[in-house]
Amino acid sequence: MSRVAVVPGSFDPVTLGHLDVIERAARLFDEVRVVVVHNPDKPGGLFAPAQRVAIIQQAVADAGLPASVVVDDFGAGLLADYCTQFGATALVKGIRSHTDLVYETPMAIVNEHLAGVETVFVLPKPENAQVSSTLVRQVISLGGDVAPFVPAAVLEAVRAR
Ligand code: PNS
Repeated sequence: MSRVAVVPGSFDPVTLGHLDVIERAARLFDEVRVVVVHNPDKPGGLFAPAQRVAIIQQAVADAGLPASVVVDDFGAGLLADYCTQFGATALVKGIRSHTDLVYETPMAIVNEHLAGVETVFVLPKPENAQVSSTLVRQVISLGGDVAPFVPAAVLEAVRAR
């Protein structure tokens, strides 16, 4: 049976840390669905969700990841329902620090309760451990260089804005 995992997030924008997590998930699972979720706690982002999907698709292709990695705009709703719909048995999340673990643990428990879906935590490469979309957005808005933190597809999208 094919093992399907979901890598969810706001991805506004996708960072090298996210790509690291996606690569790890692709090594562990037969199919990986990278899902752009509209997080109501983070309104008014840098890129519209459809643009985020396009940027991630470009970044995944540029990184030479397999066709088993697909990118989807989930919109709003319960992630557990999305997992059930696509037969996903796992969520894959990156843990950069104890703060991430504190943030992720309740969601993992709720998702297990709702859909029996397991959350698999992976550690990013140390050089990606301090990267966050929030900081990247801030640096972009102030005209700084984010090239060390994001895939080329993000830089192209920033230039095209
Ligand atoms: O990149 P983010 O914003 O930290 O990702 C958070 C996200 C989108 C994964 C989280 O907010 C989420 O899972 N939202 C879906 C709504 C949901 O299912 N909530 C209930 C169980 S956690």
